[in-house]
Amino acid sequence: MPPHTPDFKNRLAAHAAAVEQALAALLDDATRPGELARPARLMEAMRYAVLGGGKRLRPVLVLESAALCGGNPDAAMRVACAVEMLHCYSLAHDDLPAMDNDDLRRGRPTLHRVFDDAMAILAGDALLTYAFDVLADEATHADPRLRAELVLGLARSSGLGGMAGGQALDLEAEGRYDKGQRQSLNVAETRRLQAMKTGALIAFSAEAGAIVADASPDQRKALRAYGHAIGAAFQIADDILDVEADAATLGKATGKDQARGKSTLVEFLGLDAAKAERDRLVQEAKTALASFGDKAATLSVAADFVAARQS
Ligand code: IPE
Ligand code: IPE
Ligand code: MG
Ligand code: MG
Ligand code: MG
Repeated sequence: MPPHTPDFKNRLAAHAAAVEQALAALLDDATRPGELARPARLMEAMRYAVLGGGKRLRPVLVLESAALCGGNPDAAMRVACAVEMLHCYSLAHDDLPAMDNDDLRRGRPTLHRVFDDAMAILAGDALLTYAFDVLADEATHADPRLRAELVLGLARSSGLGGMAGGQALDLEAEGRYDKGQRQSLNVAETRRLQAMKTGALIAFSAEAGAIVADASPDQRKALRAYGHAIGAAFQIADDILDVEADAATLGKATGKDQARGKSTLVEFLGLDAAKAERDRLVQEAKTALASFGDKAATLSVAADFVAARQS
């Protein structure tokens, strides 16, 4: 089933709609036990950052990998929402003037352009912490061991040795701490940077479904390997789109990586070889699913989607 077939598109759309609804419910005005208030402006900023846009790739990976391993769909949805909130926080902070300084995201003005830098920072902070709140809450899973594994997995993939660490390496590579002199990363260092800033959270998304389902260590390992490969393919695809796509289709500015001196595989390999590498990683992802057989058809098509996407 190639990625443009109606089946996959419908499935993706159905997941995206369900995720939207679940996220909106988590971001309603009602205070939860222990909360003193939900400040209106902050709530508005959080909703702007999270609702009404995005491909929802990471939630789809959580939901599909949980389904593959026989996990409870409601539990999987809460985990999917936690991962997406964390992702939206990373986008809000990534777009800040102090970081990539972008004005357009998901076809709309970026969060700090609509509110201000302070509210964008705080909405990001609150989304980051809410993601862990959702995972740690008993409503996600009755078994505290699984909840702790989810919390640990999200922390490791998004923190120091994952997304936040990768973002720091990404900015350092621009040369902003070296009198404008770009750091010359090699290919291996660039791959590691990308595995951290993007790959880690995508790998966790695929693995999280297995954790929710309390799947076997082998299944968990296979899904993590799958996620790791599509995570790498995903950032290469993002870097290719930065060169080839137009802002209207992509929903964010293009041509910005070269302008800012980002270290990308497109820069090292050129467009054709970068595409070949992206496609090789998609195959690697599919190979990682082999032990699941036909049951993993949707995840396999999701891997194609990562390479074929236009936005
Ligand atoms: C953008 O992620 C940031 C990267 C890691 C390249 P997505 O392309 O998944 O962004 P949305 O969620 O669809 O807007
Ligand atoms: C961002 O990578 C990765 C994270 C937000 C963690 P980019 O900076 O390339 O993402 P875009 O192109 O702004 O979406
Ligand atoms: Mg960035
Ligand atoms: Mg950016
Ligand atoms: Mg980019």
